[in-house]
Amino acid sequence: MKGNTLRLDKYLTSLEVGSRTQVKDIIKAGKVKVNRTTIKRPDFHVDENNDQIDLNGVNLVYNKFYYYMLNKPAGVVSAVTDSKCKTVLDLLDVTPKNGLFPVGRLDKDTEGLLLITNNGQLSHDLLSPGKHVDKTYYVELNGALVENDIKLFQAGLDIGEKSKTRPAILKISAEKNKAYITITEGKYHQIKRMFAAIGLTVTYLKRISMGPLTLDEALKPGEYRKLTDREIKLLTEK
Ligand code: URA
Repeated sequence: MKGNTLRLDKYLTSLEVGSRTQVKDIIKAGKVKVNRTTIKRPDFHVDENNDQIDLNGVNLVYNKFYYYMLNKPAGVVSAVTDSKCKTVLDLLDVTPKNGLFPVGRLDKDTEGLLLITNNGQLSHDLLSPGKHVDKTYYVELNGALVENDIKLFQAGLDIGEKSKTRPAILKISAEKNKAYITITEGKYHQIKRMFAAIGLTVTYLKRISMGPLTLDEALKPGEYRKLTDREIKLLTEK
């Protein structure tokens, strides 16, 4: 895959090797190799996907993990590439992009928290059915919920799978067609199917949290930011 090309100094700055000035000095001092050739020009263009870039003999991208929190907007698909639709990766203007993928899927019309990383082990840990990671969603419905629905969600619902859904926590808002729901599974269209099982249609769905990670309210749909060190620690510590 041919990647974006960009200036070597910009690429190194994006990897937080140093400030733009420091990075220029590092390049001019002959410390950087592109495809095993020393490059001393900061404006040399590199291909972020295909070039091997070494600093002091150490490959820069290898083994480095990146973590972004995206407030996924409706209308984009949770995929790396798609021949027809805009993907969540298309929304990220970051370098390097190669190797990043969304952790799990939100439906095209669902908004909210989506973690994007290149850490496959973390993704596996968060999505593995045996780990039962909590996911909380804000939901709006075409009709009102009643108190008894809390019990139905707690007891588990038949959504056409081999077994009932695992216990889910439903919190009904003052406006009875709005609620927060926490599930510990990730079956296809799970939330929509759970509400369909009690005769309601989801009209709006937004993921608020996943495991220890909560959507940053400052992020508007389509906006993203790097995870903080604390968030990364919370996610990765066993
Ligand atoms: N459940 C759904 O139905 N859709 C999503 O996007 C996520 C959970």
